[in-house]
Amino acid sequence: MRSFTRREITRRKLKAPEAPKDFINCSLAQISKAMDEPVSTFHEENLVQVVIDLFLGGTNTTATTQRWALIYMIQHGAVQGEEPLVTPWLTAPCGTIILPLCRGSVLYDPECWETPPQFNPGHFLDKDGNFVANEAFLPFSAGHCVCPGDQLARMELFLMFATLLRTFRFQLPEGSPGLKLEYIFGGTLQPQPQEICAAPRLNSPSPGPREDGL
Ligand code: HEM
Repeated sequence: MRSFTRREITRRKLKAPEAPKDFINCSLAQISKAMDEPVSTFHEENLVQVVIDLFLGGTNTTATTQRWALIYMIQHGAVQGEEPLVTPWLTAPCGTIILPLCRGSVLYDPECWETPPQFNPGHFLDKDGNFVANEAFLPFSAGHCVCPGDQLARMELFLMFATLLRTFRFQLPEGSPGLKLEYIFGGTLQPQPQEICAAPRLNSPSPGPREDGL
């Protein structure tokens, strides 16, 4: 990852855009400005490390969330109806699976949640089945420690999950002993490796390139 990051930095240095467009470009501009400062945190070594931190912070979290989301979709197979996107479920599971990240936090407070340790879409649905936000749902923390990837993660998860649900119906393979819902602890709480089937929905739009080339 370090050498990949260094290569990306060099690539941007050689290209020198008119207006910096991404994090590395903006940081390089800042590094040039801070060149004469005797003590500055804007230098290339720091940039490499920050890019790596962003990758580490942003991959395991969203990947783990996706994996739990698919497992819970299978557990609650009935909600994968013909029109999965119109159900408020899509909003509810997008974050609920993050609950295991912070034991002892507000995410586990029995005063705020009906069944704190369990995945329970009812935590985010009113009596008519409509989505309702819960103030205690702070998977990205708050205040000074708030996750800088919050918006990106929500967008990424929504797009990926919506595309998967529109394209496939998730189910257990024939002869499967059942879902494994116990987590493995590894920094975050990971689902156990297990086989699941993604059966294409017959009426779904193809996940391939669109005809208009976009
Ligand atoms: C489901 C996805 C994600 C969850 C649940 C999540 C959760 C969190 C939480 C709870 C914290 C605060 C930790 C603390 O209290 O010290 C945090 C920090 C952080 N997150 Fe995320 N995160 C997610 C996605 C991302 C993404 C996509 C990125 C970057 C692209 C990212 C980058 C970071 C970084 C750099 C920090 C440290 C911030 C600092 O210490 O100032 N995270 N994340």
